[in-house]
Amino acid sequence: MNFVASSSGPLEWNYIAANFGYLASVVMFMLAIMRMGRVKTARSGNFLAAAAMLLAVVSSFVEMGKINPAFIVAGLIIGGAVGAIMAKKVQMTQMPEMVALLNGFGGLASTLVGLATFYALSGGGNLAMMMGRDGGWFGAINLVLTLIVGSVTFTGSIIAFLKLSEKMSGRPILLPMRHVLNVLLLLIPLAMGVAAVWYVNNPILVGLILIGIVLITFVLGVTIVIPIGGGDMPVVISLLNSYSGIAAALAGFTIGEAVLVVSGSLVGASGMILTQIMCKAMNRSLANVMFGGFGAEPAAGGGGGGEYVGVKSADAETAAMIMQDAQNIVIVPGYGMAVAQAQHAVREMAKILEEKGANIRYAVHPVAGRMPGHMNVLLAEANVPYEQLFEMDQINDDFRNVDVVLVIGANDTVNPSAKTDKSSPLYGMPVMNVEEAKTVFTMKRSLGGGFAQVKNTLFECPNNYMVYGDARKTLEEIIKALKEG
Ligand code: TAP
Repeated sequence: MNFVASSSGPLEWNYIAANFGYLASVVMFMLAIMRMGRVKTARSGNFLAAAAMLLAVVSSFVEMGKINPAFIVAGLIIGGAVGAIMAKKVQMTQMPEMVALLNGFGGLASTLVGLATFYALSGGGNLAMMMGRDGGWFGAINLVLTLIVGSVTFTGSIIAFLKLSEKMSGRPILLPMRHVLNVLLLLIPLAMGVAAVWYVNNPILVGLILIGIVLITFVLGVTIVIPIGGGDMPVVISLLNSYSGIAAALAGFTIGEAVLVVSGSLVGASGMILTQIMCKAMNRSLANVMFGGFGAEPAAGGGGGGEYVGVKSADAETAAMIMQDAQNIVIVPGYGMAVAQAQHAVREMAKILEEKGANIRYAVHPVAGRMPGHMNVLLAEANVPYEQLFEMDQINDDFRNVDVVLVIGANDTVNPSAKTDKSSPLYGMPVMNVEEAKTVFTMKRSLGGGFAQVKNTLFECPNNYMVYGDARKTLEEIIKALKEG
């Protein structure tokens, strides 16, 4: 949707049709993002957003009119096929790294739009003069900002991808004087941008400056993300997702495309909101995630410190026996459920228990797993009814009325020491009050730590029983015992 009509004569039909298409796609994007806010409607929101994107692309073709779209259609088919294969192949546990890559490509696309815009310019003078009457200094500034934000997003996301996929160490890499370095790597491209927009009157030099800006901000993307620990990557990815939206919106301003401005702003704002929600749920500030170097050293002791004392364990058959007589059961999934891909077994076990008369609920912590909505997606995949899903705030005061809590591969999100131990890195993070239930079964392979690598005092609680083993295998044993029982 061009801000300015492209011809001075009467508007052509394709221009009008394309703008209606853009308008409809903007409305569809907004409705899609609203639907994505609720588990029940999220899937249809996703389809709506995909349809909106298709409509926006088709509208661009219509607007271009006589331009032969063969290359673009070929690009769409090849890109679409690669995306479809990737989406089909990727495991649920690899989803954050895929999102990281997609964000990076979004940032790179914006950078390329910025460079292509410059390439298409004609005439002499500085960038503002080259952008001409319709663009002028406003377009020129946007072009420079598009390059900066797009390039940081690209390399930052690539590092996030490499860390999450363990192709590079997830440990924070702390360069000496890194804060000074980062400030310099931001200020230099900004100063170069000011020079290109107003002071350098040679188009070749302006072009070189723009390429220099891209290269320097590529380095900035790397130096910003390498000091951040692998476990904090989902927060960083959500932030980079926001940046990719901002880059797209800036690119939209640069080329005068309102649909890009609106969709980019939606991504930018929702990514920012999500980042805040995640930080709040982890009780960390964004500054602490970005600059804290969290995870540089394994957290010492925390949550009580020292060896575990008085930990009790039970086998799958005992857990099955206790559960089949329970009325009120709450399942608390965590990252280990995702690793074990145990969601289908969880659902199967829950169905059997329901048939035996139990009331089953699932308690979902906002940062359980390794990405926002991780548990919701897995449980939805296993067709767990939405009405059985409860957020932490909805269920946390009710654990004292629960007969059995089944903790499946969750650790940090059920660690009571987060409420009491000021020395713990988890201190202040809201956790599930599972220890208040009559009996707790904690399924995991060992007494090993969770993401924060701190001792979990739940394991020592008198009403807690560890059920050691891979979560899926243990659940299958429980199912067998329930069927026989
Ligand atoms: P975690 O604290 O990460 O603990 C997961 C546990 O799963 C581990 O202790 C592990 O113990 C167990 N496990 C691994 N594989 C298993 C398997 N095959 N079968 C059974 N258990 C298995 O889990 P959580 O409670 O979900 O907490 C999430 C953590 O990640 C929080 O600290 C959160 O702040 C952090 N985080 C979350 C996000 C988002 S957005 N969700 C983003 C960044 C960081 P064993 O090795 O003993 O089996």
